[in-house]
Amino acid sequence: MKKFFYILLLIAISIDGFAQPKSRETINFNKSWKFSFENNEKAITNQFNDANWRVLNLPHDWSIEGQFSEQHLSTTQGGALPTGLAWYRKSFSMPMTAQNKVVWIEFDGVYRNSEVWINGHYLGKRPSGYTSFRYGLSKFLKFGKEKNIIAVKVDNSEQPNSRWYTGSGIYRNVRLVITSQIAIDKWGVFATTPKVSQEEAEIKVEVNLLNRAKKNQVVDIQNIIVDSGGKVIVSEHTKNLSLKDSTGKYFQLLKIKKPQLWSIEKPYLYKVITKVFQQNHEIDVYESTLGIRFFNIETEKGFSLNGKPTKIQGVCMHHDLGALGAAVNVRAMERQLEILKAMGCNGIRTAHNPPAPEILDLCDKMGFIVMDEAFDMWKKRKSKKDYSSDWTAWHQKDLEDFIKRDRNHPSIFMWSIGNEIREQFDSTGITITKELAQIVKKLDNTRLVTSALTENVPDKNFIFQSGALDLLGFNYKHEGYTDFLKNFPNQKFIASETASALESRGRYEMPQENIQFSSRDVKTQTRNADWTTSAYDNVAAYWGTTHEEAWKAVKNAHFISGTYVWTGFDYLGEPHPYPWPARSSYFGIIDLAGFPKDVYYMYQSEWTEKPVLHLLPHWNWEKGKTVEVWAYYSQADEVELFLNDKSLGIRKKGVNDFHVKWSVNYEVGTLKAVSRKDGKIVLTEEVKTAGKAFKIKLSADRQSIKANGEDLSFIKVSIVDENGNLVPEANHLVNFSLEGVGSIVGVDNGYQASLEPFKANYRRAFNGLCLAIVQASEKVGKITLKASAEGLQSDTIMIETTK
Ligand code: GAL
Repeated sequence: MKKFFYILLLIAISIDGFAQPKSRETINFNKSWKFSFENNEKAITNQFNDANWRVLNLPHDWSIEGQFSEQHLSTTQGGALPTGLAWYRKSFSMPMTAQNKVVWIEFDGVYRNSEVWINGHYLGKRPSGYTSFRYGLSKFLKFGKEKNIIAVKVDNSEQPNSRWYTGSGIYRNVRLVITSQIAIDKWGVFATTPKVSQEEAEIKVEVNLLNRAKKNQVVDIQNIIVDSGGKVIVSEHTKNLSLKDSTGKYFQLLKIKKPQLWSIEKPYLYKVITKVFQQNHEIDVYESTLGIRFFNIETEKGFSLNGKPTKIQGVCMHHDLGALGAAVNVRAMERQLEILKAMGCNGIRTAHNPPAPEILDLCDKMGFIVMDEAFDMWKKRKSKKDYSSDWTAWHQKDLEDFIKRDRNHPSIFMWSIGNEIREQFDSTGITITKELAQIVKKLDNTRLVTSALTENVPDKNFIFQSGALDLLGFNYKHEGYTDFLKNFPNQKFIASETASALESRGRYEMPQENIQFSSRDVKTQTRNADWTTSAYDNVAAYWGTTHEEAWKAVKNAHFISGTYVWTGFDYLGEPHPYPWPARSSYFGIIDLAGFPKDVYYMYQSEWTEKPVLHLLPHWNWEKGKTVEVWAYYSQADEVELFLNDKSLGIRKKGVNDFHVKWSVNYEVGTLKAVSRKDGKIVLTEEVKTAGKAFKIKLSADRQSIKANGEDLSFIKVSIVDENGNLVPEANHLVNFSLEGVGSIVGVDNGYQASLEPFKANYRRAFNGLCLAIVQASEKVGKITLKASAEGLQSDTIMIETTK
């Protein structure tokens, strides 16, 4: 009998998704939405029949499911994928137990112009596609058996509204939050660390309460700080606080002896657990992340973290996840950060908009110095239909919400209020900068306010003239660094954007003596017939420079706190320097599929302590060709190169060199590099002439993943010869078939002009490689992926999924 009741209870929970009422419940609300491109305003009503709408789970980006076309209104700048307008609906029931509760729906981000209705009642509109927001549902809900309908209209049809790919739809997470009538407000806890030393840290916790009970109340507030293992370190309980109708703000000060500091190497995280009580009953509980660290930026010396001088070795990142589009997936983000971390990257700039909250959680956990950025434009537009037209009505609310949402992340050190804002060039820049800086400072005065500038003549830069920036971010302009201290006395600097070099992975052009700059006019751009650019670091946008030149300038300018290279990964859209059919960027250190370009190893040799030796290019050329061979190396004094065991000489880097090179008369065989320190071999690296393409080789980043319906395995497909050497220019069409408890959710090859769809079970290899992204279902079991191509031996890989 008991067992029977237990089963009944479980069924009840699974139908409604709600367990017994707790003081606060946060419910994943991503499952089983209906979706349609049918633009029917009746969809807001509960009677509307959506039986023939598609069923899907969020987060969802409908653009990434489409086909590339030159005709799409988003243009190639926006990624050449479809945009438009669509509706989402979800039916759900609320248990009677929620009747006296306050129910909210939270959206982390909807691109864009979302409008939301509950049971036919209008809840509101949010034009920005990057902002996080919530609506109160309680007033309009039906409890018990009756169904409630949430309807969301998403309108991304006004184009172009971005200079990069945005995605379309409810592309971030959605949840329901159920609280008591008295509860902690959204983003209602803010923990700062006014005093930090190795001996002691002071933690000031601000708690904001909402009172929906319509009369004055008395509450107790307790803040408990726990360490990363969950052990209570300190707790503070304040009793009998009076709470007025609507809202209340409270502060507590807690102290931690010998705190574990948060750093890049050891990003130690505490948790603040905030509890609210009434007459000894816990009525709310809320968790916030806490990282204890102190930092400084000095005019002459730049950035230091916990007293240690530290160069920020960062990259800018747009929000798309390659073949997965803008749809949030934590594992896809984590993989990007892992690849960057292994390169020695220690910073992320969220170009140029509020990111998904999950990426900031990962930066907290993994140790990145984040520049969190709010806007790419203010009132003056950059694209015809962009956010500038929403600026007047929305910028204050959007900026406030952004700061409140993100200010508990220890990984954030700088707030950027804008990127290359047009108002730099006229006096409106002064007033707007002051206003924005003030909004930020009012909500958080523990970080620096910056803006990414391009105008480096002080008198002509009105954002600088406002005097409201704590830190001057400069994009490019590296030739001018030497004059910065003179031109901007007593200022602090960061290279908010550098490089904008252009590369296609695995493509090599010779000779490569001079830097090739893209032309100002795409029509006069010299083109490779296949829309590629060379992967020797020698091609750059006309406003930028090569990776080596850019890094050299930052490295040698000790007053510059660091760099955010444009960009870590290639992203969809902005295919400079090419027009259609190019549709994604060439700027990444890593391609869109996540395969490093050669220059990745240049950064790794400079940014990590680990020994690096990387040789380029591949070794399949016409006999007699003079081939430029480069080696990136570190933790060694010299490199010797051998061709078929014959020495071609020893090379050493000079002070400002980042690679060594040889001109080699090509012959078939093995190129071998040996790095040595004090005469002892550190590393050897070989590149062999590959024979005919013979087989497919599969390798997965992880062969055991979680059976949670979200986790991913990224499976690299290499086309190799009989001896396992990568065939450098192989472009076979690879077909995938999958069996078991998962599915293929994306395919890619990193080729910027590929017009194959991302949602498919085939992909052409690009310079020997392509990728299949496999997602687990919620079933525990095995996934088998087979890859085959005409004329090649196929390969199979097995992934297990576990609870
Ligand atoms: C910068 C801009 C970035 C991107 C980049 C490409 O000027 O801030 O958003 O467009 O150029 O090089």
